[in-house]
Amino acid sequence: MTRDEARALDAADPFAALKARFAVPEGVLYLDGNSLGVLPRDTSARVADTVAREWGEGLIRSWNDAGWIDAPMRVGAKIAPLIGAQPHEVVVADSTSVNLHKLLVAALGAQGGRRVILTEPGNFPTDLYIAQGIAATLPGVEVRTVARERIAEAIDERVAVVMLTHVHYRTAAMFDMAAVTQAAHAAGALMLWDLSHSAGAVPVDLNGAGADLAVGCGYKYLNGGPGAPAYLFVAERHQARLASPLTGWMGHATPFDFGDDYAAGAGMKRWLAGTPPILALAALEAGLAAFDGVDLAALYAKGRALAELFVAEVGSRCPDLALASPTDPAARGSHVSFAHADGYPVMASLIARGVIGDFRGPDLLRFGFTPLYLGFEDVWRAAEILGEVLASGAWDVARYRARGAVT
Ligand SMILES: Cc1ncc(COP(=O)(O)O)c(C=O)c1O
Repeated sequence: MTRDEARALDAADPFAALKARFAVPEGVLYLDGNSLGVLPRDTSARVADTVAREWGEGLIRSWNDAGWIDAPMRVGAKIAPLIGAQPHEVVVADSTSVNLHKLLVAALGAQGGRRVILTEPGNFPTDLYIAQGIAATLPGVEVRTVARERIAEAIDERVAVVMLTHVHYRTAAMFDMAAVTQAAHAAGALMLWDLSHSAGAVPVDLNGAGADLAVGCGYKYLNGGPGAPAYLFVAERHQARLASPLTGWMGHATPFDFGDDYAAGAGMKRWLAGTPPILALAALEAGLAAFDGVDLAALYAKGRALAELFVAEVGSRCPDLALASPTDPAARGSHVSFAHADGYPVMASLIARGVIGDFRGPDLLRFGFTPLYLGFEDVWRAAEILGEVLASGAWDVARYRARGAVT
């Protein structure tokens, strides 16, 4: 494709105007919305208002008057359409890691003698670590890892819950959610999906797939800001029977009765533990507003087209790079990775030129495609700069090899 052809695609893009809602810094081509979404322009004012007016003036009254106490359910309901859930099946709380803990323990508790958490090796580390921590503390619990190709056949009568990440954080390989969920149910297991790399980027239909449980991040494609609170989903049919192991007062049926004994709240309320982070919830709610009124199927189709353009351009410009993601666009999420033995300095030199992706060791250059604020010319240009960096060897200098704590 020529640059003019990419420009023509932008001119015909019905979502092009959405970019103006995001504060993409001048000179930056941001291909890392799968790690930390760009700041939506309205977020600063919304957070400032929450601080100055709701907190500063309203003080403690704002728990009622500004709707703070309802924020976890209200913001959860706004995430629901992005993941194929009903509004009362999603709540915002804690981090993805903590939500994984709550749901895995709850699933084990509801599954009688079944004691196995089944997952895949190479799943996102926190998913594995949380499962391992549960196995280390709950008697008889075992974490079983099986290659993704053999997951369905590995679900036996000992498996309580299958825990998988829908779109893999490294390769973007995407599971067939409906098929795997069906396999879990056929063997009597519950199905828990981590949607961190899916929600807001690819179609997700939890209820269409019959999924039981799900978690996901607020700071990636949902643009909630660094460390944004996460969300969790429990299918309506399970809500009354699953119990959170973190029985904090905010999950109590009547927290302001201040009784001594715990009684789980109804619906998704019981998945709250402590006091919700109101400033962070305000930022997440502002981020979600970008999806209001958007035709999601068309938005996701744009994301796929952006990734396809990048893969094609990189393929023709960068013979040294091997695609580490599925070649079939339908089999991957909204990011792609390429392997390069010197991936770290290559990415560092790209970032120095304003093309921001990230590096996942030992050798992956990872690029995310966020249709809300990326255009076709942006992607074309990013591929051109990557081609220049590799052809010139400009990445091969000492300063690009010095690693930061976060890659
Ligand atoms: C699949 C997946 N799960 C979980 C997380 C992070 O969880 P937490 O927000 O608890 O740090 C990430 C972060 O990149 C992720 O990719």
